[in-house]
Amino acid sequence: MLGIIGGSGIYKLEGIKVLEEKEIKTPFGEPSSPVVIAEVEGKKVAFLARHGKGHKYPPHLVPYRANLWALREVGVNRVLGISAVGGINKLLLPGDFVVVDDFLDFTKSRKSTFYEGIYSPNVEGNDEVARLLNEKKVVHIDVTQAYCPQMREVLIQILQGKGFRHHRKGVYACTEGPRFETPAEIRMLEKLGADIVGMTGYPEVVLARELTMCYASLCVVANPAAGIAGYRLTSNEVINLMKQKEEEIKEIVVEFIKKLPEERTCGCNKVLEGAEV
Ligand code: HPA
Repeated sequence: MLGIIGGSGIYKLEGIKVLEEKEIKTPFGEPSSPVVIAEVEGKKVAFLARHGKGHKYPPHLVPYRANLWALREVGVNRVLGISAVGGINKLLLPGDFVVVDDFLDFTKSRKSTFYEGIYSPNVEGNDEVARLLNEKKVVHIDVTQAYCPQMREVLIQILQGKGFRHHRKGVYACTEGPRFETPAEIRMLEKLGADIVGMTGYPEVVLARELTMCYASLCVVANPAAGIAGYRLTSNEVINLMKQKEEEIKEIVVEFIKKLPEERTCGCNKVLEGAEV
């Protein structure tokens, strides 16, 4: 099943038929919100609000591990994360979509792996993930292609088909937040090759991958990054832009659910092969 994690401004998928809401507890704590199981085009999907109802969790305190684990519990094996970002690359304009293809991690305080060796909790299940946790293994996953190439291709086709301004790739720099960046930090990130900046893309992407899920990130440029526009950034600017894009995002998501082939032709589900020490 496909799981969708909605970011700032995207707390539910308006107009979609909800089947049930599941409150889930995980060995990694409680997720940000209940998991909403919905039906779209005859297919079941799971939706989770990254920041919780009423935007309770700031980026550095989002329970990323519990969120991914809760999606796993309901049978999700592919995740589409939707996020607002600041544009660093001068070619990016507010409102543009970016299909992320790589990341830079500048976070500081987040649990970014499920596999904590002797500190891993015991979990239920009898798949490879459960075995590695229960046997307290140390695991190093490859992130040469952190974002699922099959999901990215489908997103790009949809964005092209709809004629929405978009960029088929982009390097996402994840900062710790919750403050916005300084102009000097943005200049640094630009020199390092970042195209966009956000506060929530990491560790979501790697946690999904550790669970052998496919993960794709659809970002919406909400504002020019600090120092680029020459004015003060506000949360309102970000939320307002995301509200304006809500209808387009929903169109993309519905089309994505329709178009994504059942069969996973990428290598994402093989990421644990040879990964344990
Ligand atoms: N920086 C970090 N995160 C963001 C931004 C930004 O400029 N815009 C939206 N999320």
